[in-house]
Amino acid sequence: MKFDFGTYGRHCEVDTTEAVPATVSGSIPDYMYGEFIFNGNGLSKIGDSNYRHCFDPASILQKVTVSPSGCRYMSRFLQSTTLARNREAGAIVVPEFGTRVQAAGGGGIFGKLKKMADVESMMSDNTAINVGRFNNRLYAIGVTPYYHELDEKTLETKSRVNLYKDEGIVVTCPHLERLGTGALACVGQSIGVTGAKYCVIEYPDGDGSPRVVARISPRWRLHPCFMHSFGVSERFLVLFEQPMSVGLVDAVKDIINSTCFVDSVKWLPEESVIVTLLDTKTWKTYKKKFSFEPQFILHFCNCYEDTNGDLVVDFMSYKGPDVLHDFYLDVMRAPKEVEKIREHFKSSLMRIILPLSADDSKSEIAVTPQVLAEVPMENPRINPNYLRRQHRYVYGVGITDDDCARVSKVDCMTGEEKRFVQDGIYPGEVIYVPRPSEQAEDDGTLAVFCLFSAKKDLGCLLLLSASDLTEVARITFNAVDTITNPAHGQFFPATA
Ligand SMILES: [Fe+2]
Repeated sequence: MKFDFGTYGRHCEVDTTEAVPATVSGSIPDYMYGEFIFNGNGLSKIGDSNYRHCFDPASILQKVTVSPSGCRYMSRFLQSTTLARNREAGAIVVPEFGTRVQAAGGGGIFGKLKKMADVESMMSDNTAINVGRFNNRLYAIGVTPYYHELDEKTLETKSRVNLYKDEGIVVTCPHLERLGTGALACVGQSIGVTGAKYCVIEYPDGDGSPRVVARISPRWRLHPCFMHSFGVSERFLVLFEQPMSVGLVDAVKDIINSTCFVDSVKWLPEESVIVTLLDTKTWKTYKKKFSFEPQFILHFCNCYEDTNGDLVVDFMSYKGPDVLHDFYLDVMRAPKEVEKIREHFKSSLMRIILPLSADDSKSEIAVTPQVLAEVPMENPRINPNYLRRQHRYVYGVGITDDDCARVSKVDCMTGEEKRFVQDGIYPGEVIYVPRPSEQAEDDGTLAVFCLFSAKKDLGCLLLLSASDLTEVARITFNAVDTITNPAHGQFFPATA
């Protein structure tokens, strides 16, 4: 069977706002009771106006409730300001990562000056990538400087946090990470009169607003690097500055000319990846920087200090950013150069070891990445109890050499892979839930949100043994309309 790239480019017109019952096969472990909430692309067009890139469509939130009294599925479109403006206009009027818009009001010099004075009106608040909880509330998260608070029961949008207004942030990583200090953090980017800054944002566990605790200058003052995620060890926050940047002048031109971000991104294959460490107690930058050969990175797997005091960083890596350009919706819906796309999708699980224990007077140390496994996959997850400490196993989703979608478990010690494959099933995101009294690192269950190639309104949450990837249970549901592939999701266990 040919890999169905079209599962990445689906459009959902109607959300399933009334929870529908799901059918269950197998036996659900009781520690899986709770809610699995996913965020990702929903509406890929508004009226006759189509989004161009898989990073752009309007968010749909999807929830699978797992309980002893039965399982249910529901979904709801995020009610962002961007969606409201687009719907009111009957077309896409706010640019996204890969979607340009026609200049509203005809442009002209006065239109352009007006836009320069009102940058915020041209920034999308479509938080379509992830969900997270802070302030004891649930939020939808994207790469924008906004978060939307959600009603956990109905998934309705309740309010909006604006980090642009409060902290000058213009983009954020769509991942929140728990630091060794216990605080929850994210990394964003701000633009000021002195150029761009990477900003570490801390989120309160109780009431209070997110606040910037550190601002760091990028390697190129006017060209901050593309950054989707960051790493966290017990002592450090780890930033990768990959050789892919967007010039601030170009970004402003994009806003004025209503073009999009992807047009301004530049890949510089002669440049290294620069690693900056921030002490998470003092927020001081570590005295040395590190560098390694250029590669394109979306996701960290884990970071930890080893017994020598060196810092181990595991991540998924691509040779270059071609995968970003493959993710145009028309390419995914009707791929012409499948071999090329498959080649671009080939990621590797990599490790760098930063020699913190070495007595070296150099201010920048070049390190050599080692390949842990050449198993193409994305959205890597580990047992969350092993975050910031030595782990052995990494889980993710990818494409097999014979064109099937798969869930993989990679052993970082041996490079061996175990996989789950079934014809026609397309795993979207893996969530690791540890057994409460776990006896081993892989003593838990994976929850995998899956689509079916042949039936667009059918989906399932597949529960697999984290040890051998055998199927433990399957929760199957029918939506009112098409089920789309989520970008990321999280598990919120039921409270007793
Ligand atoms: Fe991500």
